Amino acid sequence: MSKGRLISFEGLDGAGKTTQMQLLEQWLAARDIPYIRTREPGGTPLGVEIRHLLLNRPDLAITPLAEAFLFQADRAQHFAHIVIPALEAGKLVITDRCIDASIAYQGHARGVGIELVARLSVIATQGYIPNLTILLDLDPALVHARTDTANDASGLREQQTRFDAEEEQFHQRVREAFLVLARIHPQRIKVLDASLPPELLHEQIIALVEPLLEAM
Ligand code: TMP
Repeated sequence: MSKGRLISFEGLDGAGKTTQMQLLEQWLAARDIPYIRTREPGGTPLGVEIRHLLLNRPDLAITPLAEAFLFQADRAQHFAHIVIPALEAGKLVITDRCIDASIAYQGHARGVGIELVARLSVIATQGYIPNLTILLDLDPALVHARTDTANDASGLREQQTRFDAEEEQFHQRVREAFLVLARIHPQRIKVLDASLPPELLHEQIIALVEPLLEAM
């Protein structure tokens, strides 16, 4: 096991990941705790190109299997160039999405298969997995209301992606898969109620992150 720590944030788009990651960054900065913030897809120059293909080119008619491989290509590059070197140098890495997103979106919601996508993910990450995954859980009906209105003052995210355009049923399947993953990996994946006020959620996240930092 590496000396560093990897924390991933997951949840449906609009569940508040960006806000909570920003609050965590402020908390870390106030304590002079060094960290790297990154994301999937799009954490490397290659990843930025892949992200554009995946999210904003509906004209390409990407098949579910091709989509699954593109996310894994992004991840392989991301882990090789950013995540693994940082972890091996003993750093804290916080990533906006990681392996669980592939299992939920491509494995379950797109029907590629949970087992297959889980295997591909382990290959892409060279066996590294997050030490902690914060799952911001929210009813898709509420998520859509939020995505429409709140997306996106930060400019970090495209206005309307291929995934946003999916039916509510698709997002329901993603949510189900995340919750099943959390039941399978209760030590790693912590489910938080994303409908709570942001300050309260932030406190819950700090309560999960602090013990992890003490052990570094
Ligand atoms: P983001 O907007 O949270 O950065 O994520 C972009 C979209 O990509 C989001 O709708 C979730 C989706 N996604 C997958 O379908 N599979 C994956 O493996 C990852 C990392 C993201």
